[in-house]
Amino acid sequence: MTNALITGWGMYAPSRVLTNEELSRMVDTSDEWIVSRTGIRERRIAADDESTTDLSVRAARDALAVAGLDPRDLDLIIVATCTPDYPLPATSVLVAAELGATRAAGFDLQAACSGFLFGLASGTSFIRGGMYRNVLVIGVEILSRFLDWTDRSTCVLFGDGAGAVLLQASDEPGGMLGVDLFSDGAGCDAIIVRGGGSIHPASHETVDRRQHTIKMLGSEVYKYATRQMGESALAALRKAGMTVDDVDQFVFHQANLRIISSVQKQFGIPDAKTFVNIEKYGNTSAASVPMALVEAIASGRVKQGDRILMVAFGAGYTAGGALVEWTADPARALLAPGEQTRMGQPQRELAELAV
Ligand code: ACO
Repeated sequence: MTNALITGWGMYAPSRVLTNEELSRMVDTSDEWIVSRTGIRERRIAADDESTTDLSVRAARDALAVAGLDPRDLDLIIVATCTPDYPLPATSVLVAAELGATRAAGFDLQAACSGFLFGLASGTSFIRGGMYRNVLVIGVEILSRFLDWTDRSTCVLFGDGAGAVLLQASDEPGGMLGVDLFSDGAGCDAIIVRGGGSIHPASHETVDRRQHTIKMLGSEVYKYATRQMGESALAALRKAGMTVDDVDQFVFHQANLRIISSVQKQFGIPDAKTFVNIEKYGNTSAASVPMALVEAIASGRVKQGDRILMVAFGAGYTAGGALVEWTADPARALLAPGEQTRMGQPQRELAELAV
C-alpha cells in the first residue's frame, strides 16, 4: 500500500509578543487569572502588514526545506484556517502563487481548531488513493483580527501563528495509523463569529454589534472539550488497534492547560509524554497542533519509530484524533531556514547531515 509520510515540517510565529501584563492594562484581567485558568503567559500577534498567506508561506518554506522538495513539485496545498485573507479567493491559492507551486491545486478547509487534523486526514487520503504524491498541509490563523479587544473572556485566550507539514507518497511503512474526525452542529452558538456570512452579511449594524469577532460560551465549551478530546483520542486509537500505552508522545490542541491536564488525568498520561507550549502562544486554533508538533520535534521529544497521537477540538463543534508513526529523521529540521533555526538550532547544509 502507498503510505503518506510526513517528510517536512515547519512553523512561524510572528515576532510581536503580547504578554498577560500588557493585556491587564487593556481589559479588567490579571496575569494571575489568565495563568491559573488557562496556562497562557503570552501570545504572538501578527504585524499590521502580515497576512494569513504570509504566515503560511513562512511555515511552508521551512517544511519544504526540511523535506528538500522544490515547490514546483507540490501537487496539492490544503490550508486549514478560520481566519483567511479574504472570504474569497481561497488563501491556499495565494499561498501556492507566493511559493511558486505552479502545478499545485489548492483549497481551504474550515474546521476551526480541528482544521489541521481534518487537513492531515484529507492529504493522507489523496495520497493513499493514488491521486497525488506531494501534499502540503498548513494550519494557520490570525485570530487577533477577529477578537473583541474589549471582551476579557475571549481576547486573552487567542494568538496568531502557522504550522505546516509535507506529506509524501512512499512504499515504506509508517504515517497515519488511525484517524477519527467528528462534527456536532449543536455547538454552533458556543463559539461563533455571527457577522459577515449569509445569515448576517456585513452591515453597519453587524459592525456596531461587534458581530465580526469571536463570541464564546467558555464554560460550556470547556465541559464539552474535556469529554470530546478523550473520546477523539480513544476513537483514533481504536481505529489503529492500539491503546494509550502504545503512544510515545501526545500533541493536544493548546486551548487551555486545564483541558490538557484533565485528559492526562483521565488516561494516566505522564507529563513526559505530553507536549505543551500554550504558555508561549495561547490558542492559535488550526495552527495549534502543527506548531506544537514542530516544537515537540525541536525539543528532542520525537524519535524515528515513535507513535504520536494528535488530538484537537474546536468550534462547530468539531474534533479529531490522528495517530501517526513518525518516520523522518528529526535532525532534518536543521535544514530549515526559519523558526526552527530561531529556536536555537543552527541551520545546516544537506551534506553536513549526511542524508
Ligand atoms: N480575567 C479575569 N476574569 C475573567 C476573565 C479574564 N480574562 N474572563 C472571565 N473572567 C471572569 C468571568 O467574568 C467570571 O466572573 P463571574 O464569576 O463574576 O461571572 C469568572 O471569571 C469565571 O468565568 P468562567 O467562564 O466560569 O471561567 P472558567 O474557569 O470557565 O475559564 C475559560 C474560562 C478559560 C474561557 C474556560 O472556560 C475555557 O478554556 N473554555 C474552553 C475554551 C476552548 O477550549 N476553546 C476552544 C475552541 S476555540 C475555537 O475553535 C476557535
